[in-house]
Amino acid sequence: MVLPRFITAVLVLLILPLSIQAATYNAIKEYSGATFLDDWDFYGHYDDKMNGDVNFVTAAQGVSEKLAYVDPNTSRTILKVDNTTTVPYPEKRNAVRITSKQSHEVGSLWVADIYHAPYGCSVWPAFWSFAQDAAWPAGGEIDTFEGVNLHPTAQMGLHTEGSAGCSQINPTQLSTLVNTTDCAGTNNAGCMVTNTNPNSYGAAFAQQQGGVFITEFAESGISIWFYSRKDIPSSVTQGATSIDTSTLGTPMGNWPAAGCDINKAFQPQNLVFTVTLCGDFARPENIFTQTCTGKCYDDWVIKDPSSYDNAYFDISYVKVFSTNPSATQSSATTSSGATGTQTGAQASSSNRSDKLKVTLLSVPVVVSAMLDLLML
Ligand SMILES: *[C@@H]1O[C@H](CO)[C@@H](O)[C@H](O)[C@H]1NC(C)=O
Ligand SMILES: *[C@@H]1O[C@H](CO)[C@@H](O)[C@H](O)[C@H]1NC(C)=O
Ligand SMILES: *[C@@H]1O[C@H](CO)[C@@H](O)[C@H](O)[C@H]1NC(C)=O
Ligand SMILES: *[C@@H]1O[C@H](CO)[C@@H](O)[C@H](O)[C@H]1NC(C)=O
Repeated sequence: MVLPRFITAVLVLLILPLSIQAATYNAIKEYSGATFLDDWDFYGHYDDKMNGDVNFVTAAQGVSEKLAYVDPNTSRTILKVDNTTTVPYPEKRNAVRITSKQSHEVGSLWVADIYHAPYGCSVWPAFWSFAQDAAWPAGGEIDTFEGVNLHPTAQMGLHTEGSAGCSQINPTQLSTLVNTTDCAGTNNAGCMVTNTNPNSYGAAFAQQQGGVFITEFAESGISIWFYSRKDIPSSVTQGATSIDTSTLGTPMGNWPAAGCDINKAFQPQNLVFTVTLCGDFARPENIFTQTCTGKCYDDWVIKDPSSYDNAYFDISYVKVFSTNPSATQSSATTSSGATGTQTGAQASSSNRSDKLKVTLLSVPVVVSAMLDLLML
């Protein structure tokens, strides 16, 4: 079993990148069913961050105005824009922004199973994450799903602080449309990639009954997968207690650590669903007129409320997985799929040496397996 040292070294070099990229994550937290909304904070304030023409409702308003509720027939969560009120000038329309109470550290992966996502002229929906406790963008932001107006596809990307020196370099991804590579960029534009799957947004997304978005937040880099419902891999189910990223295929978007020190650019992420109207992304004329006519606020927000009949999220579940062994232990109390939302994951500690061990341990295991093969 004594191989020349250089052969061993070559094997390690060949195997190292593979074993770092594929990882197994264990379930630590599920947001679903009747208690979905219990684990999120409602913004309860007008949109002062994305500058949209909306008031984000409180939890109480969400219930009373039926803008945020769990559909008793499907057990899925609906988050919507008010589509029943004629809003007078210069007021704003009611909508929903919710942020997860728990944040999720580097070494996490989250799955969002969504049947319908908001779309329409003036509509800017997103499922994203940021470090609520840090000054933006110092804690980093990950945009898993972002749509605008009637654009045919969604986009995804990262926003980081300039001093983090983060950019997208040599991605392994399905998308052929990279918009920007500097994750800071002018006006915090971020490093954005178009989701080139034609079913990633709008009416096409809805017709396919949506699908699943998966976000991997790892030291080796950040990756985002998207599957239409009919293409969801068999390893990705609501009941899955773990996810091995080698079963997921090539991600739609990928930001490897070679171009972005994840621990430097990111802090633990709070998950967010937003539907705003107009604002910094949907309103600018050069973007608005690509797919819509008239003026964003004047001709849409304060006109026919039925323009917002499709401006809602219909979410089956969001489930978070982790490589952190101390977080994993608590999954025993979180595993019952249908009832969901236990709080077991609060044991999730941020012990970096634990995580490193997981990554490094897999290298010698694979190497010794390879050596055994060579001995045959
Ligand atoms: C649930 O289904 C019943 C029967 O089809 C229907 O009458 C009711 O409106 C549905 N409830 C919701 C909230 O969609
Ligand atoms: C990204 O590039 C595509 C293709 O050129 C374009 O359609 C899209 O509007 C761009 N996205 C942004 C945010 O500029
Ligand atoms: C509002 O949107 C919902 C779908 O979210 C739809 O069922 C309803 O018919 C729409 N219109 C009114 C007036 O509620
Ligand atoms: C982190 O994990 C290591 C190894 O298991 C342990 O020795 C150390 O005490 C832990 N540190 C904290 C802060 O939990």
